[in-house]
Amino acid sequence: MSTFDNRVALVTGAGSGIGKAMAVAFAEAGARIVVCDVDQGRAKQTASDLGEVAIAVGADIGDEAAVAALTEAAISAYGRIDVLCNNAGIMDTMALPADIRVEEWERVLRINLTGTFLVTHAVLPHLLRQGGGAIVNTASEAGIRGGAAGAAYTASKHGVVGLTRSVAWAYAKDGIRCNAILPGPTMTNIAANATFDPTGAARLSPVLALGERIAKPEQMAAAALFLASDAASFINGAIVPVDGGWSAG
Ligand SMILES: NC(=O)c1ccc[n+]([C@@H]2O[C@H](COP(=O)([O-])OP(=O)(O)OC[C@H]3O[C@@H](n4cnc5c(N)ncnc54)[C@H](O)[C@@H]3O)[C@@H](O)[C@H]2O)c1
Repeated sequence: MSTFDNRVALVTGAGSGIGKAMAVAFAEAGARIVVCDVDQGRAKQTASDLGEVAIAVGADIGDEAAVAALTEAAISAYGRIDVLCNNAGIMDTMALPADIRVEEWERVLRINLTGTFLVTHAVLPHLLRQGGGAIVNTASEAGIRGGAAGAAYTASKHGVVGLTRSVAWAYAKDGIRCNAILPGPTMTNIAANATFDPTGAARLSPVLALGERIAKPEQMAAAALFLASDAASFINGAIVPVDGGWSAG
Protein backbone atom coordinates (compact mmCIF):
# COMPACT_ATOMS: atom_id res chain seq x y z
CA MET A 1 0.00 0.00 0.00
CA SER A 2 1.24 3.47 -0.89
CA THR A 3 0.48 6.32 1.50
CA PHE A 4 -2.28 7.85 -0.63
CA ASP A 5 -3.87 4.71 -2.10
CA ASN A 6 -7.67 5.17 -2.43
CA ARG A 7 -7.33 8.90 -1.80
CA VAL A 8 -8.15 11.74 -4.14
CA ALA A 9 -6.09 14.94 -4.32
CA LEU A 10 -7.36 18.11 -5.98
CA VAL A 11 -4.47 20.40 -6.95
CA THR A 12 -5.06 23.91 -8.30
CA GLY A 13 -2.53 25.52 -10.59
CA ALA A 14 -1.37 22.00 -11.44
CA GLY A 15 -0.56 22.83 -15.05
CA SER A 16 2.85 24.24 -14.17
CA GLY A 17 5.56 24.69 -11.57
CA ILE A 18 4.87 23.80 -7.96
CA GLY A 19 1.32 22.54 -8.63
CA LYS A 20 2.46 20.22 -11.37
CA ALA A 21 5.17 18.83 -9.08
CA MET A 22 2.52 18.32 -6.38
CA ALA A 23 0.27 16.44 -8.82
CA VAL A 24 3.16 14.17 -9.79
CA ALA A 25 4.18 13.58 -6.15
CA PHE A 26 0.65 12.69 -4.99
CA ALA A 27 0.13 10.41 -8.01
CA GLU A 28 3.43 8.63 -7.28
CA ALA A 29 2.20 8.17 -3.69
CA GLY A 30 -0.91 6.38 -4.96
CA ALA A 31 -3.53 9.15 -5.16
CA ARG A 32 -5.92 9.89 -7.96
CA ILE A 33 -5.56 13.50 -9.04
CA VAL A 34 -7.90 16.28 -10.10
CA VAL A 35 -5.63 18.57 -12.09
CA CYS A 36 -7.07 22.09 -12.07
CA ASP A 37 -5.64 25.01 -14.00
CA VAL A 38 -7.09 28.14 -15.59
CA ASP A 39 -5.07 27.16 -18.66
CA GLN A 40 -6.98 24.09 -19.83
CA GLY A 41 -4.22 23.02 -22.21
CA ARG A 42 -1.71 22.91 -19.34
CA ALA A 43 -4.16 21.01 -17.14
CA LYS A 44 -4.69 18.44 -19.89
CA GLN A 45 -0.95 18.04 -20.40
CA THR A 46 -0.32 17.34 -16.70
CA ALA A 47 -3.24 14.88 -16.55
CA SER A 48 -2.05 13.12 -19.68
CA ASP A 49 1.49 12.88 -18.23
CA LEU A 50 -0.01 11.20 -15.16
CA GLY A 51 -2.14 8.77 -17.18
CA GLU A 52 -5.40 7.21 -16.11
CA VAL A 53 -5.08 8.24 -12.45
CA ALA A 54 -5.87 11.86 -13.29
CA ILE A 55 -8.56 14.09 -14.76
CA ALA A 56 -8.06 17.63 -16.06
CA VAL A 57 -10.43 20.47 -15.24
CA GLY A 58 -9.98 23.95 -16.69
CA ALA A 59 -11.20 26.37 -14.04
CA ASP A 60 -10.43 29.87 -12.79
CA ILE A 61 -10.32 29.64 -9.00
CA GLY A 62 -11.43 33.26 -8.79
CA ASP A 63 -14.75 32.43 -10.48
CA GLU A 64 -17.32 31.00 -8.07
CA ALA A 65 -19.32 29.18 -10.78
CA ALA A 66 -16.17 27.63 -12.24
CA VAL A 67 -15.15 26.46 -8.76
CA ALA A 68 -18.56 24.83 -8.24
CA ALA A 69 -18.11 23.02 -11.57
CA LEU A 70 -14.58 21.98 -10.54
CA THR A 71 -15.80 20.40 -7.30
CA GLU A 72 -18.67 18.69 -9.12
CA ALA A 73 -16.25 17.27 -11.70
CA ALA A 74 -14.05 15.88 -8.92
CA ILE A 75 -16.97 14.26 -7.08
CA SER A 76 -18.50 12.94 -10.27
CA ALA A 77 -15.19 11.34 -11.34
CA TYR A 78 -14.01 9.95 -8.01
CA GLY A 79 -16.86 10.34 -5.45
CA ARG A 80 -14.64 12.00 -2.86
CA ILE A 81 -11.87 14.53 -2.18
CA ASP A 82 -9.31 13.74 0.52
CA VAL A 83 -6.61 16.31 -0.14
CA LEU A 84 -6.93 19.86 -1.40
CA CYS A 85 -3.78 21.68 -2.50
CA ASN A 86 -4.73 25.32 -2.88
CA ASN A 87 -1.72 26.18 -4.96
CA ALA A 88 -2.81 28.38 -7.90
CA GLY A 89 -1.60 31.94 -7.66
CA ILE A 90 -0.13 34.85 -9.57
CA MET A 91 2.59 37.38 -8.89
CA ASP A 92 2.05 41.09 -8.70
CA THR A 93 4.23 43.73 -10.41
CA MET A 94 6.13 44.30 -7.13
CA ALA A 95 4.50 47.72 -6.92
CA LEU A 96 4.81 49.35 -3.50
CA PRO A 97 1.67 50.45 -1.60
CA ALA A 98 1.66 54.05 -2.92
CA ASP A 99 2.22 52.99 -6.52
CA ILE A 100 -0.01 49.97 -7.08
CA ARG A 101 -3.04 50.37 -9.34
CA VAL A 102 -6.36 49.39 -7.80
CA GLU A 103 -7.08 46.98 -10.71
CA GLU A 104 -3.87 45.10 -9.97
CA TRP A 105 -4.69 44.96 -6.25
CA GLU A 106 -8.15 43.56 -7.00
CA ARG A 107 -6.90 41.00 -9.57
CA VAL A 108 -4.16 39.62 -7.29
CA LEU A 109 -6.42 39.50 -4.23
CA ARG A 110 -9.19 37.90 -6.29
CA ILE A 111 -7.04 34.98 -7.44
CA ASN A 112 -4.57 34.47 -4.60
CA LEU A 113 -6.90 35.03 -1.64
CA THR A 114 -10.53 34.92 -2.77
CA GLY A 115 -9.75 32.04 -5.14
CA THR A 116 -8.14 30.07 -2.33
CA PHE A 117 -11.18 30.80 -0.18
CA LEU A 118 -13.66 29.82 -2.92
CA VAL A 119 -12.09 26.40 -3.50
CA THR A 120 -11.80 25.78 0.25
CA HIS A 121 -15.42 26.82 0.74
CA ALA A 122 -16.58 24.46 -2.01
CA VAL A 123 -14.49 21.47 -0.87
CA LEU A 124 -15.05 21.71 2.92
CA PRO A 125 -18.61 20.25 2.83
CA HIS A 126 -17.19 17.11 1.18
CA LEU A 127 -14.42 16.78 3.77
CA LEU A 128 -16.97 17.26 6.55
CA ARG A 129 -19.29 14.66 5.01
CA GLN A 130 -16.42 12.17 4.71
CA GLY A 131 -15.24 12.83 8.28
CA GLY A 132 -11.86 14.39 7.50
CA GLY A 133 -9.24 15.44 5.03
CA ALA A 134 -6.18 17.59 4.57
CA ILE A 135 -5.72 21.02 3.00
CA VAL A 136 -2.30 22.40 2.06
CA ASN A 137 -2.19 26.03 0.99
CA THR A 138 0.70 27.45 -1.00
CA ALA A 139 1.34 30.81 0.63
CA SER A 140 4.78 32.43 0.31
CA GLU A 141 7.51 34.02 2.36
CA ALA A 142 5.52 37.13 1.43
CA GLY A 143 2.83 35.72 3.74
CA ILE A 144 4.94 36.53 6.79
CA ARG A 145 7.24 39.36 5.60
CA GLY A 146 6.67 42.81 4.18
CA GLY A 147 9.68 42.99 1.89
CA ALA A 148 9.42 39.85 -0.22
CA ALA A 149 6.98 41.07 -2.91
CA GLY A 150 4.74 43.98 -3.87
CA ALA A 151 1.82 45.24 -1.77
CA ALA A 152 -0.90 43.14 -3.41
CA TYR A 153 0.95 39.82 -3.37
CA THR A 154 2.12 40.42 0.20
CA ALA A 155 -1.39 41.21 1.44
CA SER A 156 -2.88 38.28 -0.49
CA LYS A 157 -0.43 35.76 0.95
CA HIS A 158 -0.81 37.14 4.49
CA GLY A 159 -4.52 36.52 3.88
CA VAL A 160 -3.82 32.92 2.86
CA VAL A 161 -1.91 32.44 6.13
CA GLY A 162 -4.90 33.82 8.06
CA LEU A 163 -7.34 31.61 6.16
CA THR A 164 -5.12 28.60 6.88
CA ARG A 165 -5.28 29.26 10.61
CA SER A 166 -9.02 29.95 10.51
CA VAL A 167 -9.77 26.63 8.77
CA ALA A 168 -7.34 24.72 11.01
CA TRP A 169 -8.97 26.08 14.15
CA ALA A 170 -12.56 25.76 12.94
CA TYR A 171 -12.43 22.11 11.85
CA ALA A 172 -9.79 20.50 14.08
CA LYS A 173 -12.49 18.49 15.85
CA ASP A 174 -13.80 17.28 12.47
CA GLY A 175 -10.57 15.57 11.43
CA ILE A 176 -9.72 18.26 8.91
CA ARG A 177 -6.19 19.61 8.97
CA CYS A 178 -5.11 22.77 7.16
CA ASN A 179 -1.49 23.85 6.84
CA ALA A 180 0.46 26.21 4.59
CA ILE A 181 3.85 26.07 2.95
CA LEU A 182 5.81 29.25 2.42
CA PRO A 183 8.02 28.66 -0.62
CA GLY A 184 11.10 30.75 -1.05
CA PRO A 185 12.03 31.65 -4.64
CA THR A 186 11.35 28.58 -6.78
CA MET A 187 12.18 27.83 -10.42
CA THR A 188 8.75 27.95 -12.13
CA ASN A 189 6.93 29.90 -14.83
CA ILE A 190 5.43 32.43 -12.41
CA ALA A 191 7.50 35.35 -13.68
CA ALA A 192 7.50 34.25 -17.33
CA ASN A 193 5.23 37.02 -18.60
CA ALA A 194 5.58 39.41 -15.69
CA THR A 195 6.13 43.13 -15.98
CA PHE A 196 7.60 44.87 -12.99
CA ASP A 197 7.06 48.26 -11.42
CA PRO A 198 10.55 49.84 -11.59
CA THR A 199 10.52 51.31 -8.06
CA GLY A 200 9.27 48.13 -6.41
CA ALA A 201 11.56 45.91 -8.45
CA ALA A 202 14.59 48.03 -7.52
CA ARG A 203 13.72 47.74 -3.82
CA LEU A 204 12.92 44.03 -3.95
CA SER A 205 15.51 42.69 -6.37
CA PRO A 206 18.23 42.22 -3.70
CA VAL A 207 15.81 39.95 -1.85
CA LEU A 208 15.24 37.91 -4.97
CA ALA A 209 18.92 37.66 -5.95
CA LEU A 210 19.47 34.40 -4.15
CA GLY A 211 21.48 32.66 -6.82
CA GLU A 212 21.86 28.97 -6.16
CA ARG A 213 19.32 29.11 -3.34
CA ILE A 214 16.45 28.97 -5.84
CA ALA A 215 14.36 25.88 -5.05
CA LYS A 216 13.05 23.17 -7.33
CA PRO A 217 9.25 22.69 -7.49
CA GLU A 218 9.75 19.09 -6.29
CA GLN A 219 11.12 20.42 -2.98
CA MET A 220 7.81 22.25 -2.41
CA ALA A 221 5.80 19.18 -3.44
CA ALA A 222 7.66 17.01 -0.92
CA ALA A 223 6.65 19.34 1.91
CA ALA A 224 3.01 19.37 0.76
CA LEU A 225 2.98 15.58 0.49
CA PHE A 226 4.22 15.25 4.07
CA LEU A 227 1.73 17.80 5.45
CA ALA A 228 -1.17 16.03 3.72
CA SER A 229 -0.04 12.58 4.88
CA ASP A 230 -0.93 10.60 7.99
CA ALA A 231 2.65 11.14 9.16
CA ALA A 232 1.57 14.74 9.87
CA SER A 233 -1.65 13.69 11.62
CA PHE A 234 -1.21 16.13 14.53
CA ILE A 235 0.14 19.04 12.47
CA ASN A 236 -2.67 21.52 11.99
CA GLY A 237 -2.48 25.27 11.43
CA ALA A 238 1.28 25.14 10.77
CA ILE A 239 2.84 27.79 8.57
CA VAL A 240 5.93 26.08 7.21
CA PRO A 241 8.78 27.93 5.49
CA VAL A 242 10.30 25.86 2.67
CA ASP A 243 13.07 28.22 1.74
CA GLY A 244 16.45 26.71 2.57
CA GLY A 245 16.74 28.99 5.60
CA TRP A 246 16.02 32.28 3.87
CA SER A 247 13.43 33.41 6.45
CA ALA A 248 15.61 32.22 9.33
CA GLY A 249 18.02 35.14 8.90
N1 LIG B 1 7.81 30.37 -7.79
C1 LIG B 1 8.06 31.01 -6.67
O1 LIG B 1 9.17 31.54 -6.46
C2 LIG B 1 7.01 31.08 -5.58
C3 LIG B 1 7.39 31.56 -4.32
C4 LIG B 1 6.43 31.62 -3.32
C5 LIG B 1 5.14 31.22 -3.57
N2 LIG B 1 4.80 30.78 -4.81
C6 LIG B 1 3.41 30.38 -5.03
O2 LIG B 1 3.37 29.08 -5.60
C7 LIG B 1 2.14 28.91 -6.28
C8 LIG B 1 2.40 28.24 -7.62
O3 LIG B 1 3.14 29.12 -8.43
P1 LIG B 1 4.32 28.65 -9.40
O4 LIG B 1 5.53 29.36 -8.95
O5 LIG B 1 4.32 27.19 -9.54
O6 LIG B 1 3.86 29.39 -10.74
P2 LIG B 1 3.49 28.85 -12.21
O7 LIG B 1 3.08 30.10 -12.94
O8 LIG B 1 4.59 28.03 -12.76
O9 LIG B 1 2.22 27.93 -11.97
C9 LIG B 1 0.99 28.47 -11.53
C10 LIG B 1 -0.16 27.82 -12.29
O10 LIG B 1 -1.37 28.36 -11.75
C11 LIG B 1 -2.24 28.62 -12.83
N3 LIG B 1 -3.20 29.67 -12.46
C12 LIG B 1 -2.98 30.99 -12.41
N4 LIG B 1 -4.10 31.63 -12.10
C13 LIG B 1 -5.06 30.69 -11.94
C14 LIG B 1 -6.43 30.73 -11.64
N5 LIG B 1 -7.07 31.90 -11.47
N6 LIG B 1 -7.12 29.57 -11.55
C15 LIG B 1 -6.49 28.38 -11.76
N7 LIG B 1 -5.18 28.28 -12.08
C16 LIG B 1 -4.48 29.43 -12.17
C17 LIG B 1 -1.35 29.05 -13.97
O11 LIG B 1 -1.99 28.88 -15.23
C18 LIG B 1 -0.14 28.13 -13.79
O12 LIG B 1 -0.26 26.94 -14.54
C19 LIG B 1 1.50 30.29 -6.35
O13 LIG B 1 0.48 30.40 -5.38
C20 LIG B 1 2.64 31.22 -6.00
O14 LIG B 1 2.20 32.43 -5.44
C21 LIG B 1 5.71 30.68 -5.83
